[in-house]
Amino acid sequence: MVASAPVAPQFRCHGVNTSLHTTIAAAPTPLITSDRRIELTSTRQSLPPKPGAKGAEVHAASVAGSEVQTCLSGGSSVHEAAVMPENRFVGDIARTYDQAVAAMYAPEVLEPAVDCLADLAEGGRVLEFAIGTGRVALPLAARGIDVSGIELSSDMLAELRRAPGGAAIRAVEGDMATTRVEGEFSLVYLVFNTITNMTTQDEQVTCFENAARHLVPGGRFVIENGVPALRRLPPGAIGVPFAVTDDHVGLDDFTDRTHLQIFRSRHFRRTTAGTFEEFSAPFRYVWPSELDLMARIAGMTLEHRWAGWDRSPFTGDSPSHVSVWRVPP
Ligand SMILES: C[S@@+](CC[C@H](N)C(=O)[O-])C[C@H]1O[C@@H](n2cnc3c(N)ncnc32)[C@H](O)[C@@H]1O
Repeated sequence: MVASAPVAPQFRCHGVNTSLHTTIAAAPTPLITSDRRIELTSTRQSLPPKPGAKGAEVHAASVAGSEVQTCLSGGSSVHEAAVMPENRFVGDIARTYDQAVAAMYAPEVLEPAVDCLADLAEGGRVLEFAIGTGRVALPLAARGIDVSGIELSSDMLAELRRAPGGAAIRAVEGDMATTRVEGEFSLVYLVFNTITNMTTQDEQVTCFENAARHLVPGGRFVIENGVPALRRLPPGAIGVPFAVTDDHVGLDDFTDRTHLQIFRSRHFRRTTAGTFEEFSAPFRYVWPSELDLMARIAGMTLEHRWAGWDRSPFTGDSPSHVSVWRVPP
């Protein structure tokens, strides 16, 4: 069913990573969370101030494509080591992203999302976290909405800028948990299960805090995410297969069902030599109730939880949700 595509395993981020093995085959063991973080020295401070914090200052700017990325900091060292998430959407993965997620471009999937986000923006500026190639941002901008974006992958940003209308979108390269873009927004949104790309609870909380600090009073933060699929696990099992063919075996590995809430989508594909290669990626699954707690930490409260962009009621059987939190007016 198209409407539930965002939670189907093949449409999780791993679904677009048909060549991810080139990036992550060397990941040493499953269920680790540190493999996606890279230490680097940056002139950017990684933690901007919390909403309402005093003393914020613009202190660094870095060129991201044709855009200048402006970051705010709480005033601490600008040269200390920043920790950046690993960028998986590189090279061919970025170049073929739109084809790989073609089903997510289907009008019956995309139009309700764009309609709903446009309504929630109420005519104000919007900011997309993890804007990617602009699947959602471009049609929003085409409606005359002022859209900005943050994106970790310069290769995805290059695709966005190549797309018709893409050059008009202010998109900056950076981590959505920490990057501050200029201005205030009536809506910040993060779709297509991408909160699960942040593989620690801390990162996910920081992402909420960063959304809140971009919002005008009364502004909204929207997340589209799957409900963790643990109910699909038969008793005693640790994995759920989603593809079993002669050339491809795919399963969601829930070995860690409680501790760090990591699941790993593992693909085993037959090579031309007849052997099988594995590629996989970790995601942190997160329950709607935990997202509500993260929102509360960030000073937001739940306004809506729908089963999808059509705003149908969320129930205990809904495989995914669209949730809307607001900062105080
Ligand atoms: C599945 S794609 C979604 C792209 C777009 N939002 C869409 O709906 O088509 C996930 C995107 O999240 C980006 N991403 C992952 N972690 C990120 C982070 N910490 N900060 C910013 N972008 C991130 C990836 O580079 C990739 O472009």
